[in-house]
Amino acid sequence: MTPETHTGLDAPTGVWWKPAHKSEKLWVGIAFAWCIVLFAMMPLWHLKGGQNPSGIRRRVNPAAFYQRTQEFIKQYKVGDDRGMAIVEPPPGSDVYLIGMTYQWQPILRLREGAQYTLHISSLDVNHGFSLFPVNVNFQVVPGYDYGLRVTPTAAGDFRIICNEFCGIGHHTMVGRVIVVDSTGRELARSGEAR
Ligand code: CUA
Repeated sequence: MTPETHTGLDAPTGVWWKPAHKSEKLWVGIAFAWCIVLFAMMPLWHLKGGQNPSGIRRRVNPAAFYQRTQEFIKQYKVGDDRGMAIVEPPPGSDVYLIGMTYQWQPILRLREGAQYTLHISSLDVNHGFSLFPVNVNFQVVPGYDYGLRVTPTAAGDFRIICNEFCGIGHHTMVGRVIVVDSTGRELARSGEAR
């Protein structure tokens, strides 16, 4: 009277499966090969991709970083834009940039083709350094000083946009980097991000 109960522990009766079709086996083969390619790309891209940060990374006290940046601003200030200092450090020097709610400080004026060590850190929470319209992105973390060796490759008037949600004013956190050409000439400012 009781119906036959069947549990997952019993083997099903009868022919309940068909061997995989040839095309399905082929598909599994291709998918597996692609997995291996992508897996190999991870270490390969790390070594050959040319996208790794310079590896200068040390702990820093936010107050000390702020102090260092103020000295840097005082040393190389050449003007200001609506109250924000424009700083023009000599080629080859250490450059300091603060990310904080909700600004990037100071405005940097760099020279095309010159190399700089750009130190970025945050004074409060995580921010995202994103250079617009160039696709350059970096995490800015409080308590860490990241030194990036950078060489601007094109003159122009660029914007730093925060791409890490950092609070109510996140969308207003826009900074500015001016790159003058190798003769030191600034391109005409369009007023808008180029
Ligand atoms: Cu800083 Cu979003």
